[in-house]
Amino acid sequence: MNTIQISIDGPAGAGKSTISKAAARALGFTYIDTGAMYRAVGLKAIRLGLDTKTDADKIASMMDDTDIDIRHADDGQHIILDGEDVTAQIRLPEVSIAASDASAVAAVRLKLVGLQRRLAEKDSVVMDGRDIGSFVLPDAQIKIYLTATVEDRAKRRYDELIEKGIAANYDEVKADIAYRDKNDASRKIAPLKVPDGAIVLDTTGNTLEQSIALMLGTIKERLRCFSE
Ligand code: DC
Repeated sequence: MNTIQISIDGPAGAGKSTISKAAARALGFTYIDTGAMYRAVGLKAIRLGLDTKTDADKIASMMDDTDIDIRHADDGQHIILDGEDVTAQIRLPEVSIAASDASAVAAVRLKLVGLQRRLAEKDSVVMDGRDIGSFVLPDAQIKIYLTATVEDRAKRRYDELIEKGIAANYDEVKADIAYRDKNDASRKIAPLKVPDGAIVLDTTGNTLEQSIALMLGTIKERLRCFSE
């Protein structure tokens, strides 16, 4: 069988990673979280003391000397930045903002999109991000756009942070998400948008289990169409 590409796009906090990971596991596909790659770049910029809002040129030159890789383990995808496993560090709120800022820099996207396309050539994948169906994998057989209201997304992200023991404030989380929505959708290169041909799934008010069932049901129905 040829490999299958499933793209999952949508705004921050829509539950893309958790739902996509569960769907990939159920289908036996490889899950690739592209946001983690942008987060690793944001983390490196912070560590170097760069201002991610104004230092675009420095972030671009930093990429010449930056190695990003992913490894799959039993507990999921691990992100490796210059040989260091930074999977835990990239989830901090300040890294989210730095990732969103750095993702608007052309040299960052060029490098990461190349890596993402190479990964999708090897295996059947569920790949999540902002520009997967519209730019990274425009020929993906199944494209999904996952969304929810900003309040719902902020509540989910807030609960996740608290569960991980990271101090958080709901209003700040909501403001960060609104900032990233605007940033990610308004950048010049490969902005967040509903890809042509994508199925839009709104998970507002759903439990995680309901969202996973909705996504899996949608994918399986589409896969059946391909096999008929
Ligand atoms: O999915 P996430 O919240 O982990 O992504 C972090 C940031 O990375 C997001 O605000 C924008 C950027 N990003 C992107 O520009 N393109 C992608 N394919 C994935 C993430």
